[in-house]
Amino acid sequence: MSNTQARPVESERVALKARNVSFSWEDTPLHWVPGDPFTTHTINVLHLLLPAGERWFVHVYKQALSLITDDRLRADVVGFIGQEAMHSQAHDEVLPHLREQGLDPTPYTAQVDWFFEKLLGDRTLPPGRARRWWLLERVALIAAIEHYTAFLGDWVLNAAELDRRGADPTMLDLLRWHGAEEVEHRSVAFDLFAHLDGGYRRRVRTWATAFSALVFLWQRGVRFFLEHDPTLTAPNASLKDFHVRGRQGTLPATGDMLKSIPRYLSRGYHPSHECSTAQAVAYLASSPAARAAEQAEQSMKSVEGTL
Ligand SMILES: [Fe+2]
Ligand SMILES: [Fe+2]
Repeated sequence: MSNTQARPVESERVALKARNVSFSWEDTPLHWVPGDPFTTHTINVLHLLLPAGERWFVHVYKQALSLITDDRLRADVVGFIGQEAMHSQAHDEVLPHLREQGLDPTPYTAQVDWFFEKLLGDRTLPPGRARRWWLLERVALIAAIEHYTAFLGDWVLNAAELDRRGADPTMLDLLRWHGAEEVEHRSVAFDLFAHLDGGYRRRVRTWATAFSALVFLWQRGVRFFLEHDPTLTAPNASLKDFHVRGRQGTLPATGDMLKSIPRYLSRGYHPSHECSTAQAVAYLASSPAARAAEQAEQSMKSVEGTL
């Protein structure tokens, strides 16, 4: 059934586990990239899209679990579900902090919820071909989106310009912890798609849908934030602002984003050829949030051991 020619790089594979992180937002300023509301809000759109988006990943993957006939892939998918559920929750916890700073995202998140829960949700389909088609279509959409979450994860792990500009360390840790786990599990969605279908036409079609939806939702999200930011009197944003930040290194470069498109559409694509697991694992070993989660888990285990 599969007509992909993907050859995974085995050394890039790692056993997946969810890390039970938590972040304190009280010291994070509204413009957490100092003096740059455009960069701040472009990245802030993640907090609007990911809670509903990653909940939707988990919802779809729970339906796909029973179709998996490979034990190793099933373990990867279970690890992926645990990580994405934690990501969704961590970004959701930023929203009350934005509200406290006068930026209520509810009108926008209500639209995003509708998009994932209704438009991309379960339809009243009879069991059989139609229901399977819709599940495979969504599994392929997730594979395409995960190409971009890995791209962004790799970018933020290497975005030294954000450190040089004095970006808020808690927000950077949230983004890099999440980005590192995206890099860690970057092959799972594509492997699941290849296992259940892998059709090239479906890969191209769902990539086009995912890419268009991401661009549409993202630019609306940036505009929403800039218009509702209580500190901005004349909010203004254009594609040029994005290009400029890309050249400066506070946002991904447009050229790098464009170059990632033919890579996903190449027949020999496999996510293990992108990014670096070693870099992701190294970040997770030093991330304040991931280390705190690890220490909490270790002390819980030692308490359980003494009981
Ligand atoms: Fe995620
Ligand atoms: Fe992911």
